Amino acid sequence: MTKLKWGMIGGGEGSQIGPAHRLGAGLDGLFELTAGALDADAKKGRAYARRLEIAPDRAYGDWREMLAGESAREDRIDLVTVATPNSTHFEITRAFLEQGFDVLCEKPMTMTVEEGEEIVALAEKSGRICAVNYGYSGYPLVRHMRAMVARGDLGQVRLVKAEFAHGFHADAADADNPRVRWRYDPAQAGVSAVMADCGIHALHMACFVTGQEVTSLSADFASCIERRTLEDDGMVSFRMTGGAVGRLWTSAVAVGRMHGLNIQVFGEKGGLRWAQEWPNQLYWTPLNETTRTLERGGPGLSPEADRASRVTIGHAEGMPLAFANIYADLAEVITARKEGRAPDPAATHTPRAIDGLNSMAAVYAAVESAGNGSRWTEVRPPSRR
Ligand code: NAI
Repeated sequence: MTKLKWGMIGGGEGSQIGPAHRLGAGLDGLFELTAGALDADAKKGRAYARRLEIAPDRAYGDWREMLAGESAREDRIDLVTVATPNSTHFEITRAFLEQGFDVLCEKPMTMTVEEGEEIVALAEKSGRICAVNYGYSGYPLVRHMRAMVARGDLGQVRLVKAEFAHGFHADAADADNPRVRWRYDPAQAGVSAVMADCGIHALHMACFVTGQEVTSLSADFASCIERRTLEDDGMVSFRMTGGAVGRLWTSAVAVGRMHGLNIQVFGEKGGLRWAQEWPNQLYWTPLNETTRTLERGGPGLSPEADRASRVTIGHAEGMPLAFANIYADLAEVITARKEGRAPDPAATHTPRAIDGLNSMAAVYAAVESAGNGSRWTEVRPPSRR
């Protein structure tokens, strides 16, 4: 089998998320990094692309040049990843979808709900994949939680509690550091800071695991560092389509917390607990029984978890391998389409544009609610009410 051709926009040298994408996409030998506009600085981007062994004629200076170059080729890329800063996602994703490319866009997919609606409609019309990199949905035990809920192990889900709380913007003396400041500047970050950056990962995970969508929410935001216009802490209560009650805490000032992405799901027949910093164990407590530790790679897990598990039991797996599962699933769906067959059903749960839109609608609802004394607010975007 020939490798799929993969292109990347953003994720240049020294970027935070670029290496995780390259590790993930490269792991299974399914994708070859063929084209890139990797950096805001054209010269740096081209030079880095060359070091990553991208051919000179496909080491582009910017994304428009890449779009024109790849659109004109017969051997055009099969998938493009958009890993640039947030405010550029919409126009790049829209432009590549319009030209018939499959896209994996970093989160948040857009800056507004209206843009999100446009991308969902465009992806539907074009028949192309528009995936959104909620990469934590690639963890084997997160997929196992989803499978357990779907097959009824927990019975009716009553409660879900999700957190994404870190402490890396807690130093008031460092608040004016440009690398931190832009995140709390509405002109650059949009309507929300930590909720749009981190809270949406936890909210997406609550939806992914329960198979439910958020219908309404009540949010309380705080800017713990005085000069900040946007929130650096948020507490959100929410209700879901299947009747589950949700609680979400997100923070950037929780000193001592590292990545802090955790989820607990409580149903009528048992409860689950998982933490992204210890991703190889899932705690399952059937009602009136003692807690069991489910080990990634261990016996008796769901086919979804087995498909996503790569290293033998007892050896740690982490975030780049979760990203690898997103890429493996996309490769399966793209290859199946090329071969005119149905994809493996276990590969079809990658978050899509609709998840990106729902997240943005939740961010806007949270901002509205927080500005209105935590009033309960409708979440669903206009096209889905
Ligand atoms: P970063 O600032 O570390 O890197 C951004 C990269 O994009 C740099 O190499 C920069 O030169 C390049 N770039 C900027 N504008 C560009 C343009 N117009 N064309 C081509 N390249 C351009 O940013 P970071 O932290 O890597 O974040 C990138 C995106 O990934 C953000 O949207 C962020 O929200 C998302 N992210 C997602 C995570 C996840 O778990 N899914 C985790 C961390 C970030």
